[in-house]
Amino acid sequence: METKQGKNPEMERKQQDVTSVLLREERLFKPRKEVADIAYVKDWEAELAAGNDIEAYWANKAQQFEWFAPWTQTLDTSEAPFYKWFVGGKTNIAYNAVDRHVRTGRRYKLALLYVNERGDERKVTYYELYREVNKAANALKKLGVKKGDRVALYLPPCVESVVSMLACAKIGAVHNVVYAGFSVHALAERINDAEAKVLITADGTFRRGQVIDLKAVSDEAVSSCPSVETTIVVKHAGNPITMSDLSGKEVFFHTLVEGEPSECRAERMDAEDMLYILYTSGSTGKPKGVVHTTGGYMVETATTLKDVFDIHDDDLWWCTADIGWVTGHSYIVYAPLLLGTSTLVYEGAPDYPQPDALWSIVERYGVTKFYTAPTAIRHLMRFGDKWPQCRDLRSLRILGTVGEPINPEAWMWYYKHVGNERCPIMDTWWQTETGSFMISPVPTAPLKPGSATKPLPGIHADVVDQDGKLVPPGKGGFLIITTPWPSMLRTLYKDPERYVKTYWEVIPGGVYCPGDIARKDEDGYLWIQGRADDVLKIAGHRIGTSEVESAFVSHAAVSEAAVIGKPDPIRNEVIKAFLILKEGRTGDAHLVEELKKHVRHELGPVAVVGEIVFVQSLPKTRSGKIMRRVLKARELGIDAGDLTTLVE
Ligand code: PRX
Repeated sequence: METKQGKNPEMERKQQDVTSVLLREERLFKPRKEVADIAYVKDWEAELAAGNDIEAYWANKAQQFEWFAPWTQTLDTSEAPFYKWFVGGKTNIAYNAVDRHVRTGRRYKLALLYVNERGDERKVTYYELYREVNKAANALKKLGVKKGDRVALYLPPCVESVVSMLACAKIGAVHNVVYAGFSVHALAERINDAEAKVLITADGTFRRGQVIDLKAVSDEAVSSCPSVETTIVVKHAGNPITMSDLSGKEVFFHTLVEGEPSECRAERMDAEDMLYILYTSGSTGKPKGVVHTTGGYMVETATTLKDVFDIHDDDLWWCTADIGWVTGHSYIVYAPLLLGTSTLVYEGAPDYPQPDALWSIVERYGVTKFYTAPTAIRHLMRFGDKWPQCRDLRSLRILGTVGEPINPEAWMWYYKHVGNERCPIMDTWWQTETGSFMISPVPTAPLKPGSATKPLPGIHADVVDQDGKLVPPGKGGFLIITTPWPSMLRTLYKDPERYVKTYWEVIPGGVYCPGDIARKDEDGYLWIQGRADDVLKIAGHRIGTSEVESAFVSHAAVSEAAVIGKPDPIRNEVIKAFLILKEGRTGDAHLVEELKKHVRHELGPVAVVGEIVFVQSLPKTRSGKIMRRVLKARELGIDAGDLTTLVE
């Protein structure tokens, strides 16, 4: 939501639109005794109260980790909004996630359980992970990768992707993971912005019975990425690929790590040293390089996973996200390993080869905690109740969702048919920028289907109007976060001004504005309604309108484009595009297909185009900005609001 401070009629309008369609949900699910008896957070309200003193609360949580040198100040606000946490503290997140456990009884415990849609599995203990990470870390060092250098990863969810992330963290290199569904252009743009020295990719990834060649995409991308000195290729899918014969430019992962020592000293990282960059879409301009640092990220990701999913030593944790999104970073890799739990890494679709793909894995391995996206639940609901019912899901104890609002029907289906009315559902609201869960229940909280409940202990959020004034209960407004939190983004890579403008100058009062619309009910429960800006949410993935529009315009037939999110029962939204064609081009069915393919090629399969219409003109402001809300209002059959700035 990149607007200047002050009144913005367009956003105000959106706030009202959303408020008028609020739903009323009266059901309340109290915690069951078996769940409450073992929960770390016994008394939700008391823990929330303990979190009022944010510095004391987070300093206490940070004690569970090993610090090479203690911090001297918990929170430094002197350069707000460039906050610093655990100032002066020295640590290493990979050391805390792996090495620390190897010296305990967890040495031979399962760290990673990799499973794919073909039924292959690979089990890695903490000790094995320790050796693999060290070898990879030494190999990166040998290639000249030093603390602060950026390493791009374009990999499927697999053992090597976890090892590569941790190897970077171990030596202080900054990883920049790019989701393996992104296209050549998106990959190259992210590598170039980060100026990555090394790219780690794979021969391929499995998707619905096919092997997608990632090496070919990487090759094309790297040809326009001058910063990349070496490409490392993981042999994963076994498909034939060609390696460049330029010696040293391309090397197989297994060849590189072979013979490397299995010990590697952990780099002494300052709490505020950069851990990773992850690109995410905004409503305007190029993707934003969200920067996360070491200490605060470690503390909050682990604390939130432990308290929300009540992680105990006998758990098998499964987060179905892809490693390429923040959910995978925080909750497949870092938080579970920091807690010394076993984390399942899955490569495949939720309904392949059958609609019970996920449930059969829960059954086979005895997954205890399961975390997925509402879009996956809605998709699986379509196939009927028999698919979860034909599997033994009794091992499950707690369920969770993330990525978009979960509608009460999907919540109830998940609760009844997956959790068998035994498992509480943790609806976790957070963002790439927040690094960790921010608004979420804990297992002892009474639940209302569709509400992420309250800000977690140590987090403070509210709902306000454009001027930053609190809105009364039941009224919609802008969600804000009112106090800093340890795993917050520190800046946008190479663009601190955009960081300030995008998040801190939207609502007055020095508060963080995530860009979501929400309402608070009489019990203080928050109901997230969706985005306030033009960002699309397709199957839980954030896609910027500007990225999609520029993909359309890069086709020879298109002169101008405007896209909106069209509501979709399964994916939440799909793209609807309004296009003005160049002189002499006709908008026929053939062109529609060609354009759909073109956008898919430019942006990757995440950008699902639902509909294309050809128009003669687009609604614009006097200054020439496309008024997408006019298109959207017409699409939804609602009032478009104030049209005084519209040209025609
Ligand atoms: O709109 C909110 C929605 O996802 C956005 C963040 O997207 P991204 O950075 O891609 O991260 C997704 C995974 C953390 C938010 O601004 N969102 C996320 N979780 C929820 C949600 N909306 C409603 N309820 C949620 N639980």
